[in-house]
Amino acid sequence: MRVTATTEPAVDTEADVVVIGHFEGEGIPHDVEGGVLQALVDAGEARTAPRSLAVAHAAGKRWILVGLGRREDYTDERLRVAAAVAHGRARELGGRVVAWELPHKVPGHPAAAVVEGTVLAAYRFTAFKSSSAADDDNGNRGIQELIVSDHHDRAAAVERARVVATAVNAARDLQNTPANHMTPARLGERAQELAAQHPALRAEVRGREGLRELGMGALLAVAQGTEQEPALIVLRHEPEGAPEGPVLGFVGKGVTFDAGGISIKPASSMADMKFDMSGGAAVLEALGAIAALGLPVRVIAVVGATENLLGGAAVKPGDVVTTAAGLTVQVDNTDAEGRLVLADCLHHARALGAERLVDVATLTGAVLSTLGKVYAGLWANDEAWAAAVQDAAQRGGELVWRLPLHERFGEAMKGSTADLTNVSGPRTGGASTAAAFLQRFAGDTPWAHLDIAGVAWDGDQPYAAKGGTGVTVRTLVALAAATAGESPVT
Ligand code: BES
Ligand code: MN
Ligand code: ZN
Repeated sequence: MRVTATTEPAVDTEADVVVIGHFEGEGIPHDVEGGVLQALVDAGEARTAPRSLAVAHAAGKRWILVGLGRREDYTDERLRVAAAVAHGRARELGGRVVAWELPHKVPGHPAAAVVEGTVLAAYRFTAFKSSSAADDDNGNRGIQELIVSDHHDRAAAVERARVVATAVNAARDLQNTPANHMTPARLGERAQELAAQHPALRAEVRGREGLRELGMGALLAVAQGTEQEPALIVLRHEPEGAPEGPVLGFVGKGVTFDAGGISIKPASSMADMKFDMSGGAAVLEALGAIAALGLPVRVIAVVGATENLLGGAAVKPGDVVTTAAGLTVQVDNTDAEGRLVLADCLHHARALGAERLVDVATLTGAVLSTLGKVYAGLWANDEAWAAAVQDAAQRGGELVWRLPLHERFGEAMKGSTADLTNVSGPRTGGASTAAAFLQRFAGDTPWAHLDIAGVAWDGDQPYAAKGGTGVTVRTLVALAAATAGESPVT
């Protein structure tokens, strides 16, 4: 989708659909043909309840009025949702070019919200459909262009949001691609593609042999059950001029299919497990956006990619492996593979010089029980870094909720034969015991862990309803921007 900003009134643009948000108890800011829109309001057809829509035809265009609720309740998320539902209606109406008239004098980042809501809602995964990719059931090609109209010049904010939303959609493509296509090697190629596009990015991919050289016994243990070559993917953002400030380490779980291993999952829980690489996808595409935005910050992304299958060579419950950090782990449940992958990747990110760590992983079903599809779980070993991640999520418009670490969760991860076990005995506090396991591999480096098992797939927002949500790309980009000292663009 083409996305532009203009200071022209929406009515004067080439758009065939104009969208206007309206607040309770307020008139329509720029009415058309002497009051067509206000008449819809007066007739009770256009309501201000969030998500309600009304349509008029005037001045050779379609006009969509979308409710924004009460002005004092305004949030960027409300506008993002309004943009998403308005996009859906504009598409049904056969529109091609949408002009959004930004609401006046609202706090936050309305231009970004409209761009994100529209670009994310427009996402379709059609790579494996044989009919013309862009057409819907009515043969209509969808919205091709978004014009954001405001009295003020919003070009910078609009372009920034376009880059970020495009990266989110790219992460969704990686998530949605079936596991027979989205292999560990393919994920590695994606890192190389990004590096080829951006001079500030460098990619490096190692296979099984490379993992052996690094002593990554935990990642290798997961990978030993599959014929697919695993991939340790390192993507570095090193812009010119070696910027000051800490080197960020973004670590992603890249399990391209999780069957559970010998501790096999029930069939119904296995269906969507191609998305178990969502953390890795978010990390890679976030670096693409960081490079495209030219943020002056150094970032090292490490993604551990493998399948978790079962077979004659697979790791067995009770096997003991040695991690790259030197700690031994007894693999009591082969379905708790994410923490094995991350253990070696966290260690590697530190070895490569990362000074602040964030890992992103679809790690536990337990976080889905705890926080549902609403919040990602956040754990951190450092108060300032936890606050930085929470701020970044807030600015990115994503929801994270901090949950506690405690040494008693760590106690539960002590092994009987080895230093650690990968699964706690009692099946309680599963998301926090997983975090406690990872904590051991972060050492004294400030570290935050985001468990996105609940929010990475089949979201409950209208702009991310089916399949991969691309979650955490926005948070990671905001975190990099904050580290680079960027003040928010409005
Ligand atoms: N990838 C799964 C976590 C998951 C579960 C994501 C459900 C999305 C939906 C992870 O590898 C896993 O299997 N975790 C186990 C850990 C358990 C065996 C300690 C879980 O959560 O059941
Ligand atoms: Mn698993
Ligand atoms: Zn998994």
